[in-house]
Amino acid sequence: VEETYIMIKPDGVQRGLVGEIISRFEKKGFKLTGLKLFQCPQELAEVHYEELKSKSFFPKLIGYITSGPVVCMAWEGVGVVASARKLIGSTNPLDAAPGTIRGDFAVQTGRNVVHGSDSPENGKREIGLWFKEGEVIQWTPAIAPWLKE
Ligand code: GTP
Ligand code: MG
Repeated sequence: VEETYIMIKPDGVQRGLVGEIISRFEKKGFKLTGLKLFQCPQELAEVHYEELKSKSFFPKLIGYITSGPVVCMAWEGVGVVASARKLIGSTNPLDAAPGTIRGDFAVQTGRNVVHGSDSPENGKREIGLWFKEGEVIQWTPAIAPWLKE
């Protein structure tokens, strides 16, 4: 099954948006399989964002992600990677549609509240980076037949 790594960034935690953001993925119908509050060490932030190492904003990005606790989540479902990116909205919150998380709650790329994996491969890679063995739980929601025929 497809899975994605969703992370509420330090600004989302500081601003009290944790419940609101989790609620959007829950209500959509995806399955939460991993969840923790976590202080990201510098090294993990650098590995997570290694594709952006050459960018001028990289040091600021690492500073941002390590500036306070984040909420790490694994979500599962058919099409969850692309759908979660739609729920999150464009990277620059000023371009993000109203109704998306960034569209509703953010104004700057450097404070865009939430992360979502950009491909199923990166979903698996990132869940492996942020969660330890045993922290991701396989379970069957009792409402499953009401979400999928
Ligand atoms: P993520 O879901 O967090 O990966 O965002 P994204 O996939 O929409 O964007 P991308 O992977 O290209 O960039 C990762 C993160 O780096 C963004 O979400 C921003 O927090 C940050 N970022 C990207 N571009 C800029 C920029 O030009 N300036 C600053 N300050 N941060 C940036
Ligand atoms: Mg990205």
